[in-house]
Amino acid sequence: MKRRGRFITIEGGEGTGKSTLVDGLRHSDTFSDAVFTREPGGSPGAEEIRALFVSGDTDRWDALTELLLINAARRDHVMRTIEPALAAGQDVICDRYLDSTRAYQGVRGVDRALIDNMHRQTVGLSPTATLLLDAPPETGLARAKVRAGPDRFERMEGGFHAALRTAFLTIAQAEPKRVTVLDATRSPAQTLADALDALI
Ligand code: TMP
Repeated sequence: MKRRGRFITIEGGEGTGKSTLVDGLRHSDTFSDAVFTREPGGSPGAEEIRALFVSGDTDRWDALTELLLINAARRDHVMRTIEPALAAGQDVICDRYLDSTRAYQGVRGVDRALIDNMHRQTVGLSPTATLLLDAPPETGLARAKVRAGPDRFERMEGGFHAALRTAFLTIAQAEPKRVTVLDATRSPAQTLADALDALI
C-alpha cells in the first residue's frame, strides 16, 4: 500500500507572508509533487462559501455563523481535495486550517471546546505539521494594505490583530511538537529556509 502523504498547514495573522512562503515551497524540490490548497476554499463548493465569508461588512456574519460556514467549507474541502491526495501518497500544503478558526473565531468569542468538538465530529483530520508565521500586527497589516483592497477581517480594529497573534502563539506553546513558529520579520528567503528545515 502507498505511504500516506503529509498534511502540512501554514498559519498566521494578516500579511505575515503566508502566500510568499507557500510560493517558495511550491517551487522547492521537496514539494514538487505536493498539492497546494487554501482555506477557506480549496474545492469548488468551499470557494463559493469563501466568497460569502470574506466579503461585505465586518459585521455581516456573527462569530458563530462564521464557525458554521467555515466548518461546512472545511468538510467539503477535506472530503473532495485533501483526503484523496493524502490517500494517493501526495503531501498536501494548506494555507490556513483549524488553527485559524481557533484564533479568529476564538478571538471573536466562540468557545474553544465548541470549535474543537465540531471539528472532531464533522471533519476529523488533523495536520501532521504546522508552520506559524509570527510578526507584530503592525508589520502584517502594513503589508496586507499594500495588496488589493482589504478584506472583511483586515478591516477589523488593531486590538483584534494583537489578540490574534497571542491566540496563535498560545496554540503553538500548547502543541510544540506539531507547530513550529517562524519569525516572519526576516526576509522571504530566510523564512523559506527555516520552513524547509522544519519540514525535513
Ligand atoms: P486569507 O486572507 O489568508 O486568504 O484568509 C481569509 C480570511 O478568513 C482571513 O482574514 C482569515 C479568515 N479565516 C477565519 O476567520 N477563520 C478560518 O477558519 C479561516 C480558515 C480563515
